[in-house]
Amino acid sequence: MFVETTICREPAAPVDTAAAYAWVYFCEENLSGPGKAGIKKMPLSYQEFKEQASLLCGIDLSLYKSQQLDRRIKSLMNLWQVKDYDEYLQVLKTDPQRFQIFLKKLTINVSEFFRNPECYFYLWEKVIPELLQKNPNPKIWSAGCATGAEPYSVAIILKELQALYSAEILATDVDGQVLKRAREGVYGLNEVKSLPQELLERYFREEKGYYHLSPEIKKRVNFQRHNLLLDPFPTGLDLILCRNVVIYFAEEAKSDLYQKFYGSLRDGGYLLVGGTEPLLGYKQLGFETVRYSFYKKRTAGAL
Ligand SMILES: C[S@@+](CC[C@H](N)C(=O)[O-])C[C@H]1O[C@@H](n2cnc3c(N)ncnc32)[C@H](O)[C@@H]1O
Repeated sequence: MFVETTICREPAAPVDTAAAYAWVYFCEENLSGPGKAGIKKMPLSYQEFKEQASLLCGIDLSLYKSQQLDRRIKSLMNLWQVKDYDEYLQVLKTDPQRFQIFLKKLTINVSEFFRNPECYFYLWEKVIPELLQKNPNPKIWSAGCATGAEPYSVAIILKELQALYSAEILATDVDGQVLKRAREGVYGLNEVKSLPQELLERYFREEKGYYHLSPEIKKRVNFQRHNLLLDPFPTGLDLILCRNVVIYFAEEAKSDLYQKFYGSLRDGGYLLVGGTEPLLGYKQLGFETVRYSFYKKRTAGAL
């Protein structure tokens, strides 16, 4: 037994094991001075580690799907040969580089221009022209934008439709590092491979195998850090893109998110989700489906 209670004076020392553990925590939290040094701490459980890591990252990990999350967290533990959750937490607190790797692992941020091109062509041919007819100054939000390929793809389409300067494009992600990359606007071939060749030539400058996005497109996208599970949502939006983000969220968090998206959209506004993320219960939420992955907010009278 590693619980030593003799140094504690008040309240009276507990007798059963669970209470003894609680007691140690009480002492750890409440005592200072010479007595504290004598207390041996109980090792962190996985659950406690997640709670502490949530505080460190500013991301509530209980809202992420647990199997995927567990796999990721444990794979890093093996890679770094960390012996227990206390040591793991210590590493995250003291090693900024590993902390960034940990964050990245939780929030995988792979993206590319015109990812699933047919969705972008549908945006180009149908959705955005319809929105422009209703509102010449549309407000668009790419939520979970990663490296920026998604909001920049929309900006390119708007430019092609001669509506870039009248639109507002907000792009957000929880990962501050990835937003830095997004603002730089420099991409590898694998990130631009789905773009039609003429758009690639028109909007990028190739240098040593990297593709630099034109400043004209870059400066039209407003990047901000935002946690979809925590922060307030913008309102009055015509189009929201949230693709390949919620695959990591638990069911409860997802339905909460979609309700908030509904509240953020104007009547007739669109929500575009990832190919593997159909909106279950979209009718109850107040959406109609217009095409695979595209949901339209029903007007108030039609509900
Ligand atoms: C796979 S990327 C998707 C990028 C882009 N939407 C696409 O489909 O190409 C997922 C992004 O979601 C972000 N993400 C994860 N959890 C988030 C949260 N709670 N709030 C905001 N963004 C989050 C990650 O940081 C990551 O950049």
